[in-house]
Amino acid sequence: MQKKRLLTGLQSSGTLHIGNYFGALKPFVDTYREYESHLMVADLHALTTIRDGALLRSNIIDVVKDYLAVGVDPHEAIIFKQSDVPEHTELAWLFECLVTVPFLMQGHAYKDKVAKGIEPSAGLFNYPMLMAADILLYDTDVVPVGEDQRQHIEYAREAANKFNLAYGETFTPPQELIVTGVGTVPGTDGAKMSKSYKNTIPLFGTRDEIQKAVMSIVTDSTGERPEHVYAIHRLLKSETELTPLYEEHKGKYKALKDALTDDLDAFIAPMRERRAAITNDDVAQILKDGATRARERAAAKMTAVRQLVGISL
Ligand code: TRP
Repeated sequence: MQKKRLLTGLQSSGTLHIGNYFGALKPFVDTYREYESHLMVADLHALTTIRDGALLRSNIIDVVKDYLAVGVDPHEAIIFKQSDVPEHTELAWLFECLVTVPFLMQGHAYKDKVAKGIEPSAGLFNYPMLMAADILLYDTDVVPVGEDQRQHIEYAREAANKFNLAYGETFTPPQELIVTGVGTVPGTDGAKMSKSYKNTIPLFGTRDEIQKAVMSIVTDSTGERPEHVYAIHRLLKSETELTPLYEEHKGKYKALKDALTDDLDAFIAPMRERRAAITNDDVAQILKDGATRARERAAAKMTAVRQLVGISL
């Protein structure tokens, strides 16, 4: 049976933590092989917020290394950079000529950013149409995204429908695949693990960094089982595996934290080592190969689209 097509957009959000892993990366790695998968580094979208060339360049390299380190195989997915396929911006323009300003003005992401005082650039405003182009260029069936991106997939469906109505059936309206992972990953203070709460455990951390984070886990001296330690431990081991350990070390928080440090390090070390072995040249080569494959598909689609809209003679 023909595999369905999947496309997702990656944007670096800095140093990853295990909350990112269990919430988003792991579920992706577990399922991307079921589809014909496209992983696109959304570098043009990143320009809506980044105005520092060196930073954008290192973000691009980092996000590719992150995905390779957690187990994405470049032979089993097309990994490419948005800016290497000019058809994305070309198709975005065509969609911008079909949708209205009031329609784009309803964008939650746009409204939220403007409310936070971010300059309302035209790029930020048109963001959803570039994203629609990313998705629709490849006849994508499913788009794995977080809940915050749901409206963007609706925008992509609307762009597809508008185009199809004007020029005939051309684009497949895509479906979002909302990634939930394991639900909420608890941080070192028991609240949701998040960079802004400073309660994270680094995904590619050294043993020392892991240990430091584990030692900072908040414990309550009244209970027999340190709940926040246990909650993080449960991400790695089953209840059956953990019960004897927590029985044996009842009330001994230091021993339990040491055990968690060992388990986290054993879990992280292979990914940390794999990431360290990937060079910037490796990333450049993978993106180059990916761009060739992506452009082939994008170009074929755009040939048909240019014909339909009347710009190719
Ligand atoms: N807007 C997405 C985000 O912030 C990134 C993105 C850009 C994307 N283009 C995409 C996601 C296409 C899925 C499909 O996460």
